Amino acid sequence: MDFKDLVLYRQSDRKYDENKIVEKEKINQCIEASRLAPSACNSQPWTFVVADDKTIVEQLSKAAANLGMNTFAKHCPVIIAIVMEKANFTAKIGGVMKDKDFPLIDIGFSASYFCLQAADLGLGTCVLGWFDEKKVKKILNIDDKKRVPLLITLGYSLAKTRQKIRKDENKMCKYNRYK
Ligand SMILES: Cc1cc2nc3c(=O)[nH]c(=O)nc-3n(C[C@H](O)[C@H](O)[C@H](O)COP(=O)(O)O)c2cc1C
Repeated sequence: MDFKDLVLYRQSDRKYDENKIVEKEKINQCIEASRLAPSACNSQPWTFVVADDKTIVEQLSKAAANLGMNTFAKHCPVIIAIVMEKANFTAKIGGVMKDKDFPLIDIGFSASYFCLQAADLGLGTCVLGWFDEKKVKKILNIDDKKRVPLLITLGYSLAKTRQKIRKDENKMCKYNRYK
């Protein structure tokens, strides 16, 4: 797949083959792509916690399902939690001076590298922002003070590739002037 095809192929998959185990090497490749993602001042303020144990995945999926959202997570074989770590000194100072939440931005990059690498390996993912963070931290033994901005579901998708629904290019890109 060339890059454009990969970007079109990657989608939020919400139906997985729950009996098909995701190979450890493939998970490691996704982790490696995330590890190589850029971050402000190379701070890398993340830890990826991979849950592939059936009992833990089940508990996490319960923490993600609420008000009719994310019930599909119950049928995915792997869930990754991204823990936000402290930024390094320069990223912290830069963030304060420029009023920017660099760790959150960095985690977005790292998560997207994960999802694109997974797609390249024929795996499906869905980024989840909607979940009970307190429960997730308890299940994975993460300090209460830390934040978990995202979960990622991972598995072999049973969903068909959809057309992307996106704003028109002229609505999201301007040349030389915003207005
Ligand atoms: C930060 C973030 C949080 C998201 N949270 C959820 C979620 O909790 N549940 C869900 O089903 N999809 C979630 N999504 C997936 C988006 O709904 C999806 O990316 C968007 O609709 C575009 O569709 P596509 O990923 O299939 O191209 C999230 C995506 C991002 C980037």
